[in-house]
Amino acid sequence: MDLYEYQARDLFEAHGVPVLAGIVAETPEDAKAAAEKLGGVTVVKAQVKVGGRGKAGGVKVAKNADEAYEYAKEILGMDIKGHTVHQVMIAAGADIKEEYYFSMLLDRANRTYLAMASVEGGMDIEQLAEERPDDLARVPVSPTTGLNREVAEQIAKEAKFADDMQSDIADVLVKLGEVFEKEDATLVEVNPLVLTGEGKLIALDGKVTVDDNADFRQPAHADLVDERTENPLEAKAETKGLNYVKLDGSVGVIGNGAGLVMSTLDVVAYAGENHGNVKPANFLDIGGGADAQVMADGLDVILGDEQVNSVFVNVFGGITACDQVARGIVQALEILGDTATKQLVVRLDGNKVEEGRAILAEANHPLVTIAATMDEGADKAAELANK
Ligand SMILES: Nc1ncnc2c1ncn2[C@@H]1O[C@H](COP(=O)(O)OP(=O)(O)OP(=O)(O)O)[C@@H](O)[C@H]1O
Ligand SMILES: [Mg+2]
Repeated sequence: MDLYEYQARDLFEAHGVPVLAGIVAETPEDAKAAAEKLGGVTVVKAQVKVGGRGKAGGVKVAKNADEAYEYAKEILGMDIKGHTVHQVMIAAGADIKEEYYFSMLLDRANRTYLAMASVEGGMDIEQLAEERPDDLARVPVSPTTGLNREVAEQIAKEAKFADDMQSDIADVLVKLGEVFEKEDATLVEVNPLVLTGEGKLIALDGKVTVDDNADFRQPAHADLVDERTENPLEAKAETKGLNYVKLDGSVGVIGNGAGLVMSTLDVVAYAGENHGNVKPANFLDIGGGADAQVMADGLDVILGDEQVNSVFVNVFGGITACDQVARGIVQALEILGDTATKQLVVRLDGNKVEEGRAILAEANHPLVTIAATMDEGADKAAELANK
């Protein structure tokens, strides 16, 4: 889950990373009150989970509380790259002398963490990385040591921070490494990390992504969820304990086993090329124990997706044999009754395949078509979705 800047700011503060005061507001009146409370120059910042807010006009410096009111009025409700601004953060204004960049992320390809830092922070780090890659230090961080003092010093050195700043920078990096580790983050980015006129380092903008797989040991993260930005289908699937990811196409997909479902997505996309370029509508792995309730829950979520025109159920019977899965499908359709309205193409293979197909044939449900192979099923489902 990506966090809002103000949530990242709060995590930073909790782990001792220097930040400025910030107050979240949902109305121009509250923004004005916040600016009055902070006093002096403030910055009105759109809270959306997308980069490039400044360039889109979502970050404005306000000289006084009345200006904060005007800017908040302008920014609230604004659309930034498809994200509606529901909240602004009124941040204390910083006297910026220099802007630096720091990030730490999970480097999946190299099975490690990666820290990046540059003395040239601000708004265009992607451009810097492309045009002058040597000015962006990249230091792998072993997950076994984490971002300790030694690694922090190495990063500060490779990023070419001034000699008299290295120690202060290392202090802040160690704390940011703590945020990464203690909060089970996959990304911690600070852009800009600023040096103020008084010579203080402050994290002025934070982006944090926390790993949902660690939710079980991060109960506090549940409070960070913003229902307004959750995909309603994914949220529904989660409450039912389903492994579901919403995609953009019109062929619903249900399978057992992540590998089989992934390849089903490929096969459906490929078959779709012959049928008006229809694409898979979702990833849904119902796992090993595909009983009737799980099947009903899965179908219920998929049929709730307005984009779906047909559903491809692709199951390879293992410990849960095909006859159980077939019974599950029949019972699921009974449970769903009239709410099941879209055509289902079912391909069964593996343990007890004959029995499974016989059960489906016997039930003879008007919405169900049996396919002999995965390719045939994908083709049929794509054809139905294109009608
Ligand atoms: N509290 C502040 N005081 C003074 N200047 C600020 C403050 N916050 C931000 N700024 C200035 O505004 C610029 C952009 O702010 P920020 O980094 O928060 O947004 P952004 O980078 O445009 O957004 P994103 O990170 O989503 O792309 C900063 O580089 C900094 O110069
Ligand atoms: Mg920024």
